[in-house]
Amino acid sequence: MMDLQGKVAVVTGGAGGIGRALGRRFGREGMKVVLADVLAEPLEQATRELADEGVEVLAVLTDVTDYASIEALATEALARFGAVHVVCNNAGTGAVSEGYMWEHDLADWRWGIDVNVLGVVHGIKAFVPILLEQGDGHVINTCSGNGGFAPIARGAMGGPATAVYPMTKAAVLCLTESLHTHLEMTGTRVRAHVLFPGGFLNTGIWESWRHRPQRYAATQQRRTQQATLAGVVARFEAAGAHVEFTPLDAVADQVLDGIRDDRFWMIGPPGSADQVVSSKAASILARGEPDYLVDVLGAHTGKASDEGGKR
Ligand SMILES: NC(=O)c1ccc[n+]([C@@H]2O[C@H](COP(=O)([O-])OP(=O)(O)OC[C@H]3O[C@@H](n4cnc5c(N)ncnc54)[C@H](O)[C@@H]3O)[C@@H](O)[C@H]2O)c1
Repeated sequence: MMDLQGKVAVVTGGAGGIGRALGRRFGREGMKVVLADVLAEPLEQATRELADEGVEVLAVLTDVTDYASIEALATEALARFGAVHVVCNNAGTGAVSEGYMWEHDLADWRWGIDVNVLGVVHGIKAFVPILLEQGDGHVINTCSGNGGFAPIARGAMGGPATAVYPMTKAAVLCLTESLHTHLEMTGTRVRAHVLFPGGFLNTGIWESWRHRPQRYAATQQRRTQQATLAGVVARFEAAGAHVEFTPLDAVADQVLDGIRDDRFWMIGPPGSADQVVSSKAASILARGEPDYLVDVLGAHTGKASDEGGKR
């Protein structure tokens, strides 16, 4: 376990919900913080918030889909602070597709894969050599129970949920497992971790469509309205599910505890996600049907503190 005081953390998606909470928490631990995000105004606000708390903070406008942009982020972080010890590949984009997966817009697939998967790959490629050179450090990739454990196949209204998002998060888990093994093979003390943010979280991910880049503009006529967080909450409540937001600081705690305990799996307390994992393992071992697939409402009903139905 590394003493975090005075060390340097880089957080992609650092202007948004979880990333912003991570930056705040790292700052309170006495770390220097580099916030990276594609949205200029929220990035500026998040940076000001940390600076006002007395944290040494650097903001770098970054697009994780562009490798040159991530390389520039690493260069700027090193130029300012001289080292990088904790890298959170956290930037992500949420569900925007409609209909069955064969009806999803190809632009939705490209956007989701580029941000959620290649963004993490870019972070690993740019930062791991720096950490290896230093001989110490932590790489934390933000996954989700939605895909990381099993896809949410049905949405809140019983129709099909996006297939894009869970596919990207399954990839994040898989590539973090590979990273763990590859790091171990080198004998380094650099460690890989996979983060499963737990609970129902009030973040921008539910409405990612609001910041859809022109480069990934939709190519199909939309038939249904885009989701809003208020709309999702209303649907849950109409179905009798109690909605209570988990504080984002709880996710930051998961990360800090995971670093301190040197834990690969950064997962919250046992809950419905554990059930999905064990029934999935049982289904595979029995060569049975994938009967562990849950719908977003089922995963949430009465279990607001569990991972499972998240974006
Ligand atoms: N909110 C949840 O319930 C939940 C659950 C599980 C996992 N996650 C994951 O947590 C991570 C953070 O999401 P959040 O919930 O805080 O949502 P958020 O939308 O509040 O934050 C995501 C941030 O990523 C940034 N971003 C998007 N595209 C980018 C790009 N190309 N380059 C750089 N930055 C980019 C956004 O601008 C935003 O600030 C994501 O990877 C998400 O998939 C969220």
